[in-house]
Amino acid sequence: MPLERALVLERFRRTRARTRALFDLVDPAAYYQRPIALRNPIVFYEGHLPAFAVNTLIKRGLGQPGVDEALETIFARGIDPDTEAAAVARGNPAWPSRSVVLDYVTAADRLIADAIAGADLERDDHPLLQNAQALWAILEHEEMHQETLVYMWHQLPHAWKKKPEHYLTAPPRLAHGVRAAGRVHMPGGTTSMGTDGANGAFAWDNERPSHRMRVAPFEIDVYGVTNADFMAFVEAGGYRESRWWRAEDFAWVQTEAVIHPSFWHRDQGRWQWRGMFESVPLPEEWPAYVTWAEANAYAAWRGMRLPTEAEFQRAAYGTPEGHERRYPWGEALSRRPPENFDFLRWDPDPVDAHPDAASAFGVHDLVGNGWEWTSTVFAPFEGFEPLASYPEYSAEFFDGDHFVMKGASPVTARELVRPGFRNWFRPRYPYVYAKFRCVKAAP
Ligand code: AVJ
Ligand code: FE
Repeated sequence: MPLERALVLERFRRTRARTRALFDLVDPAAYYQRPIALRNPIVFYEGHLPAFAVNTLIKRGLGQPGVDEALETIFARGIDPDTEAAAVARGNPAWPSRSVVLDYVTAADRLIADAIAGADLERDDHPLLQNAQALWAILEHEEMHQETLVYMWHQLPHAWKKKPEHYLTAPPRLAHGVRAAGRVHMPGGTTSMGTDGANGAFAWDNERPSHRMRVAPFEIDVYGVTNADFMAFVEAGGYRESRWWRAEDFAWVQTEAVIHPSFWHRDQGRWQWRGMFESVPLPEEWPAYVTWAEANAYAAWRGMRLPTEAEFQRAAYGTPEGHERRYPWGEALSRRPPENFDFLRWDPDPVDAHPDAASAFGVHDLVGNGWEWTSTVFAPFEGFEPLASYPEYSAEFFDGDHFVMKGASPVTARELVRPGFRNWFRPRYPYVYAKFRCVKAAP
């Protein structure tokens, strides 16, 4: 299919505009701060997005000169080191002034927009240009980083951020219905894993090759674990009992003195949720955003476990009739998603707020309102091949210490919402918008 340049240009402009809006949310005085100690300061990300695009598409893909070799080196990559000590050891380049960064951004954007409008982006004789791979890679790279920006901004003091007009962190609920909790029986069957490359559609290397997997029958929670549910674990002393935790996770609980999820805090004896723009009394019906370690411990405490990636796929996309859907709710994605993703909100919704988005098996809130942790260690599918345009993208993380997350968070762009997309983080990384639900073997 020929490249629809006008549509691509529109997507590029939309994505850049959203990135700019995200930088505008933050007080410029914070520009050289690191909201998360492990990650780079804010300045890095404003340069990294266009620099990655220039390095990948313009220089390596099209073989043309970039904008500024020195800036394209310091802004090339910023992956989290393992520890804060390693982050310090990596050192701090002399970050440029904001006006230098913004001039670079303007020049780079012009180069990319010109390439989208007219360059030879799709060619069979160049690995980066087959199926216009580099083009899709730079667009999805930026869309993913928008989520990174938001969860970093989340850690900044509220006074440093401008809450958008009319935004309500916790809108009042009309019907405060008692949700009928419970589990759904999932019959055994097969499910597809990853993204099929047949039609030339873009997918990251870790999504390929797509294949099918057999899933044994199991039972799955209809809703994700809520803050109220998780509170029961906290109050039962769950953080003090080693038997619910893996040894390395319990060591973290003890050395870091973790006693509740990092999104919670206590103010004069009352539990609060630290939202993006303000703290609110802990919403009982919101999904508990927790680390993998906390999710895994909670599931053990309930005599259950986290779903595997394949079990998630089957619950989200399978149907009793046997075919699979593109989305849990059907084949189409309306302009306004029926779930909490694509920046509809900056914070969660109650877990039962999206009945129209339930899966064919009646499981709610699987894709949206927070990524879902799985028990699957992030690893290559058999036959994995690194992506030509970004060979380190996944391969650097196949170390057994990252777990697969599926679905989408409130700040996941709609372009990334596909069944095969896989996200991953370390088990004790406390910043991501990740929720979970529990499963058990069928009786
Ligand atoms: C896929 C979200 C885990 O943020 O580390 C961005 C995405 N990789 N630039 C990350 C990514 C390189 C990646 N995640
Ligand atoms: Fe990046």
